[in-house]
Amino acid sequence: MPTDDPTWSVDTAVVHLGRPPREPGHPLNVPIEAVSTYHAGGDFEYARDGTRGSQALEQALGGLEGGHAVSFASGMAAASALFDTVTTGGVVVAPRHAYTGVSVRARQLDQAGRIALRAIDITDTDAVADAARGASMVWVESPTNPMLEIADLATIAEIARANKAILVCDNTFATPLAQRPIESGADVVLHSATKMIGGHSDLLAGALVFADPDAAAEMVPRRTLLGGFPGALECYLALRGLRTLALRWRHAQSSAQILAERLATHPAIAKVRYPGLPDDPGYDLAQRTMAGPGTILAIEFVGGRSAAQALSDRVRLWVHATSLGGVESLLERRRRWSLESDLVPDDLVRMSVGIEDVEDLWADLVAALEPW
Ligand SMILES: Cc1ncc(COP(=O)(O)O)c(C=O)c1O
Repeated sequence: MPTDDPTWSVDTAVVHLGRPPREPGHPLNVPIEAVSTYHAGGDFEYARDGTRGSQALEQALGGLEGGHAVSFASGMAAASALFDTVTTGGVVVAPRHAYTGVSVRARQLDQAGRIALRAIDITDTDAVADAARGASMVWVESPTNPMLEIADLATIAEIARANKAILVCDNTFATPLAQRPIESGADVVLHSATKMIGGHSDLLAGALVFADPDAAAEMVPRRTLLGGFPGALECYLALRGLRTLALRWRHAQSSAQILAERLATHPAIAKVRYPGLPDDPGYDLAQRTMAGPGTILAIEFVGGRSAAQALSDRVRLWVHATSLGGVESLLERRRRWSLESDLVPDDLVRMSVGIEDVEDLWADLVAALEPW
């Protein structure tokens, strides 16, 4: 019996990809194998090279993104392995503000002379085209964390191709439910599976999905040497979380839309960044290129930084914590992190909408914003 089928919709694929063969006596899920080494001479030798658990997760993520996946211990391990492929002095075009860890690491590599970083505004496609001349890698995150900017992936893919540069797209915020960057011309998709894919704030994992199977095969021995291999429990939990991704995603996205609309008219809120709002700069592009604006929004305050901090301190249902993509709604003022870009407004609070009742989430926000 087949364990996957290219005609499946994404809602079906998240449930069924990466399962063991349908044979009598086989389990429905790839079990957690606590192992570092195997009897010699078989398909598996040492767990840092690959395990049944990592392969199951890769089969699922590769199928969902339409490519060939290599799993990692975290999104940052995946990002670091990609930076490792750039030859010394190679030009990397990257968003001026993307996920802090990626931005900071790219700057460190630039300062060390390892890469030559060109930071750009990914919404300015002309600027991307200028910066891409002579580049070996163009790195895009869309929507960006935490500014929720949207990139024109198909046009940037043409620019990258014309310059023979590899196009990387961090698809953590969008997930394959909203966009499949390989279909738009990306060479590599990056995921922090820690976020929506895992979905329960209980694991760290990452993945790279390559359009080219040979590029994926080349990444495997690099991962073995760099060492960022995902643990058995993490692979299992990421795959288990993935089974409900479509349900969680649709519920959280619908709540995010409602909350964004209500926050946009709240007197304490100066600005809402969410590509599902018609006056958002990314709205038209998101409407044309994405299957939904996602589950993350960001707000700024009439009362500035102290009002932003007060919200974080006062919420009782929303959780004041970093990260995103879990079943529980989280928020935080991003600039509380010293490494966050100073291009991010000091009072910007990023909100990751979970799957609680939207009216409970709204009531908690209204109560926490009350004095304003
Ligand atoms: C967009 C994005 N990419 C990559 C990462 C890094 O992932 P991880 O925390 O799994 O290393 C994050 C983490 O927040 C992220 O938000």
